[in-house]
Amino acid sequence: MKRFFSADDVTDIDALVNEAISIKKSPLLNSDLGKGKTLGLVFLNSSLRTRLSTQKAAQNLGLNTIVLNAGQEAWTWEFEDGAIMNGSTVEHIKDAANVLSQYCDIIGLRCFAGLTNKAEDTSEKVFSLFEKYATVPVISLESATLHPLQSLADCITIAEHLPNNKKPKVVLTWAPHIKSIPQAVGNSFAQWINKTDFEFVITHPKGYELDIQFTQKATIEHNQQKALQDADFVYIKNWSSFEDYGQVVPVNEDWLLTNEKLKVTNNAKIMHCLPVRRNVEVSDEVLDSENSLIYEQANNRTFAAQVILEKIVKGNGKA
Ligand code: CP
Repeated sequence: MKRFFSADDVTDIDALVNEAISIKKSPLLNSDLGKGKTLGLVFLNSSLRTRLSTQKAAQNLGLNTIVLNAGQEAWTWEFEDGAIMNGSTVEHIKDAANVLSQYCDIIGLRCFAGLTNKAEDTSEKVFSLFEKYATVPVISLESATLHPLQSLADCITIAEHLPNNKKPKVVLTWAPHIKSIPQAVGNSFAQWINKTDFEFVITHPKGYELDIQFTQKATIEHNQQKALQDADFVYIKNWSSFEDYGQVVPVNEDWLLTNEKLKVTNNAKIMHCLPVRRNVEVSDEVLDSENSLIYEQANNRTFAAQVILEKIVKGNGKA
């Protein structure tokens, strides 16, 4: 494997998930694999889970890690080709990516959507430029449109809780939020689940349609209660409008998920990538219920990262 940016970099998701589950049983089996190699983790945006789970995964493989909080601690990056850098930017991304490649054998990059320029975000301008100028494999720690390590951890978590003798019904439900949030987690979850044979329904208010290239064959249902009927897994996530790009479009109905609303499900398991605005996106009673998988998802971030790092260190084509 040479890069990890999306579900399209994976040939067989079931096999990858099973491999991660096997790693989870014996996480130190390949503790010498990364000996003498260095993983660089570059963050243009904040993180708790991605930062620590990827470091832990690297540690399990014997990889050294170095972390650069590029959004706060590094020189301010310039992204325009040919720019006359006489303003606030100090270092061009082409220099930063190449220099980081001198110190690292693999680089992970977090670069959220700016949510102001739709064309730049949808073209993955920052991730693409970084990958272009890096001379080592690059993995996404969440880019403008996708969050593949989160989605792989979500697929692992679902696989560990599949209902017996039944194709699961998975529902991705939009949730309210006070801020403008990128679509990356929702897009990415849709992209990965669309590659399974699960029944998949996305529910959101009108005006919050995700980019069709990721939702593809999912059923879109604007009535949340109807969507939740017989669900086995309910994934809760806010995102800002893709059509009215980056805007928080006012919604009249109450989209906060409660136990009352979940009564129509098949005793559904509850998922959220975290961090979560409790009692804004979803109520405490749901997050803290015995059906909540939120901490299992967070735990599985380590094994999602580990299976990808293993493949990149081994460098053997698609996962
Ligand atoms: N879910 C997730 O990516 O968490 P962090 O933003 O804390 O890394």
